[in-house]
Formats: sequence, C-alpha cells, structure tokens
Amino acid sequence: MQTYDLIQKTRRLIPLTEAEIRFLVEGFTAGEIPDEMMAAWLMAVCCQGLTEAETTALTLTMRDSGDCLDLSAIGAPTVDKHSTGGIGDKTTLICTPIAAACGAHVAKMSGRGLGFTGGTIDKLESIPGFSVTMPQEQFLAQVRDIGCAVISQSGHICPADKKMYALRDRTATVDSIPLICASILSKKLALGADGILLDVKYGSGAFMKTPEQAVLLAETMVRVGTQAGRRVRAVITDMNAPLGNCVGNALEVEEAVQVLRGEAPGALCDLSCALAAQMLTLSGMGDVVACRQMAEEAVASGAALEKLRAMIAAQGGDASVCDDVRRLPQAAEQMTVTADRAGYIAGIVSEEIGLACLGLGAGRASGLDAIDYGAGVRLHCAVGDAVNSGDPLFTVYGSTPARCEAAAARIRAAVSLTDTAPAPIPMIHKIVDA
Ligand code: URA
Repeated sequence: MQTYDLIQKTRRLIPLTEAEIRFLVEGFTAGEIPDEMMAAWLMAVCCQGLTEAETTALTLTMRDSGDCLDLSAIGAPTVDKHSTGGIGDKTTLICTPIAAACGAHVAKMSGRGLGFTGGTIDKLESIPGFSVTMPQEQFLAQVRDIGCAVISQSGHICPADKKMYALRDRTATVDSIPLICASILSKKLALGADGILLDVKYGSGAFMKTPEQAVLLAETMVRVGTQAGRRVRAVITDMNAPLGNCVGNALEVEEAVQVLRGEAPGALCDLSCALAAQMLTLSGMGDVVACRQMAEEAVASGAALEKLRAMIAAQGGDASVCDDVRRLPQAAEQMTVTADRAGYIAGIVSEEIGLACLGLGAGRASGLDAIDYGAGVRLHCAVGDAVNSGDPLFTVYGSTPARCEAAAARIRAAVSLTDTAPAPIPMIHKIVDA
C-alpha cells in the first residue's frame, strides 16, 4: 500500500477500505508516514469529505491507537458529556454535579483550552489545590462513591488523535466534519462511558459557524457512536454570544458556583439543567420531563452544590470556594466599561470575547503558555437587555492596566447596541438522537 495512492483516491472520491484507513492512521502514529503526506491526505478529506463507512473506520482506528478504559468496576451505567467548545462554556462544572446529585455516574476526562476556547481542566485547576490527575483505580472509585470525577486526559488515550490534531492545527484542516467526528468520538469511545452526550455548538465562537453545519456534525457523530455500541445524543446549541456572564477560568468557576447556589437563574442555568436532564435519560433514569424536574430540584435543594463540594474535596481542592468565591485567584487589575448611549444589546461576538480573554492571559495561544487564572471578563448584560447611557456593560480583569485597556477596547467593539429589542434566539436549536 502506498500513501501517495491513498491521497489520490480520497482526492478522486474513491472510498478507502478499512485496511487502507488503518494503514494511514497506524503509519502516521508510528512515525512511518511523514507529516507532509498525512497533511495532504487530511486536506483531501477537508475538500472531498469521507463516506460514513470511512468516518466510522477512521474513528475506530483512532480509538484503538491507545488505551481503552474499562469502567465496569463502577458497577452502574456511566455517562460522559462533551462540548465541541465555546466561549464561557462552563456547563460541565454545573451539569456534572447536578447529574451526580440525581444518581448518575459521570466519568469524565476533559481537555485544556487551546486558542480562544476555554478548557474545563484549566477552569478546575483555578481552584486552589485541585488535582486533575489520579490513578485509574482512584478515578473509578471516585465515580462509584461520589458519582462524578473530572480529570485530564491521559497521554495514552488516542495518541493518533493527539498527533493528527497537532498537524490539523498547523495545516488549516481542523474544520472538517469527518475529522472532527473521528477526533472527538475516538476519545469518547476510548474513555468507555455507556452514554455520551454531545453539546455541538454553532456560531462565531464555535468550529461550526451555522446550525445546519452543527446538525450535520451531530448526526454523523450520533450515527458513528451508535454503530460503536454506545447511547449517543447531541444537543445543538447557540454560541454566537458567550454562555453566561463570565469568561475566564476562576470567573467561570465563580459563576458555576453561583448557578448551583441558585443565585444565577437564566440561560446558563437553563442550559445546564437541560444537559443534566439528557445525561440522566442516557443513564436510564426516566424520560426527559421527569429528568429535567430532578435536575432543577437538585439545584434548588443544594444537593448539586454539595456534589461539587464533594468532588473538589476528593480531588484535593479547596472546597470552601463553594462558600466564598473570593478564595479563587483574583486579578491584580480591573476596569469597567459603561454604555455611551441607551439601547438594546443586539449582539456580543463571542469569538472576539474569546480573543480578548486570550490577550488577557486567560487562555493559551500555544500549548506551553502559562495561564493567568484570575484574568477574564464579566459581562453585566446579555443579548436583548435594555441599557441606559452610563450603565456598566462589562468589567475586564487582568494583570496590568495596559492589558485591561487593550481587552476592553476589543470587547467594546464586539458589543453592539440597537434602538429596537432583537428577537430572542433559543439556546437549544435541536436535539439529535439515534
Ligand atoms: N475538539 C476535538 O477534540 N477535536 C476536533 O477536531 C475539534 C474539537
């Protein structure tokens, strides 16, 4: 088999066999296929797509490139949740303890943020002492005993994806539906949960720019995941504006705690309860209406906050952040920007907010950058809100006045005001089920 011929076949829309796809993935992971050959094949996939059989073969071969976890020691159905990435997306910090408080077993490995999207692991690491690594037996025991654990992905899971993603990132071949499907699902399948909930985002702050593209990605992932023997469902959600009020690691933990304390009703709380309800149905705990009610009760009763506290303590973190969010890292400087006229908030371009937060040090432009956990932005208004001249629009948090000023200018340009109230956009566009 020659890599050159396989590149030609994909370019000419001739489907590859399972053996040919395995040859490519295994050869590249082993260092036998050079970067330029693999990059050419990835570009051919971006331009021509793959059939569903090819996408399934790619996903399963990538899954099998490393360890696959066996979660059977937990002794109950397990569920995992994955977001395709967005700005201010802290739903994992909220729906994981909600689902656990309702009796689900959430076994979750998450990633760090790269580029302008945040990662759950960085958010959790902003909690003093919180450890995102532990031996596998301890991970299984924590999920069994507390109902949830969130750790960072071990290097032995899907090494093929690690290498391929790094090459895609350098060669403008990230935003391809078969490649994203294989990348995300191979990791989810290797992690072994019985149920997988996917939050597929669309909008300016997401890989998929339109709801139609997000639905196509979701349908592909649900079909491939179901063929691999898992219960998979996808929720298609809007990411044109940031999710919730806060963007930045410690700020997002603070907001998650406020939601679980019942102090922050609104779109973020609603979406988190909706996601938790889907996780519960995937765990076989009832229909979506009953599960939604259970989720809301877990927030109202404080049971979900107790689960977060238990998870933080079990992972070595300072659980008193649940009582006093000022124990989270704080930025040295802050700056509030006010409205220069009255109007309605027509839009907040989430990609720009993400890039401004990256400039503040809340994210990393490259894999080795250090993070300023206290940096970020707190929005004082959401799309559709009416504001008067002089009302605070947002507060920027950072290490120096200069950094705050630069971010504030960028964020101000991303917030648009109009004279008439914009039509509300539902947070959930669609649910894609097997
Ligand atoms: N997240 C992943 O893990 N992989 C992709 O390709 C895109 C988003």
